[in-house]
Amino acid sequence: MYTINNKISIYQSGEPQNKAILFIHGFPYDHNMWQKQIEELESSYHCITYDIRGLGASPAGNGQFTMESFVDDVEFIINEFKLDKPVLCGLSMGGYIAFRCMERMQDKFGGLIICDSKPEADNNEAKLRRAKGIKTINMEGVQKFVGDFVPGCFAQSSINNPKIPYNEVLNRSMKYDPVGVKGCLLAMLSRTDTSSYLSQIKIPTLIICGENDKLTPPEVMKLTSERITNSEFIIVPEAGHMTPIENPKFVNKAITKFLMKHFPGI
Ligand code: MLT
Repeated sequence: MYTINNKISIYQSGEPQNKAILFIHGFPYDHNMWQKQIEELESSYHCITYDIRGLGASPAGNGQFTMESFVDDVEFIINEFKLDKPVLCGLSMGGYIAFRCMERMQDKFGGLIICDSKPEADNNEAKLRRAKGIKTINMEGVQKFVGDFVPGCFAQSSINNPKIPYNEVLNRSMKYDPVGVKGCLLAMLSRTDTSSYLSQIKIPTLIICGENDKLTPPEVMKLTSERITNSEFIIVPEAGHMTPIENPKFVNKAITKFLMKHFPGI
């Protein structure tokens, strides 16, 4: 089921009485990145995903986004759909949102799944890269920015693999509203560092990382996992930064195992 509430495009499948999983996509993508996970899980779980403001079918408005406003949207969805301690699953920018959700309202969640992300804020180098990205969009358009950015998110073997919808993902992202893409860049650039909160995350956590992830490499994500008490870390073979799309079979198996262990009987 698809609805637009509070100007956010929200997608639900599965029975609402089942345990809810709330999926947050990465940048510059949309809810479609979770398609394979939802297909696998919807018979046993209530799966909810949405398009972050400015991406996919969620309008950009004036593009004045902050990480805090993205967390407000998660809180809105939880309240609107009366979700009872959903498992929060975020990839990369979705992970930045998820980590801040933990810091702000951990008690509203039953579990946490982080794919290819980190709790640290942008350093100066990363901030300058974001600024350059905004300049590229202003001077040469969103297609040029997306065409430069997206290939770095996938392992080369995935780009060459016809079974992986790389071109579909790339073409979709090239059509996004430049105001929305720039708004997300600014929200990431100005986000806070949530790493000091890691030791206070007590809910069951699964940390997933592609073996060829260049943006948040396995050695970095392993350290993040070690700082969370109740956490498991897995490396996904044959994948870069976009694990749910690049190796859905492996990711689905890991998520299912994690859910069965911590939410038995659901
Ligand atoms: C993402 O996949 O969400 C982005 O790579 C995050 C980022 O640019 O920091």
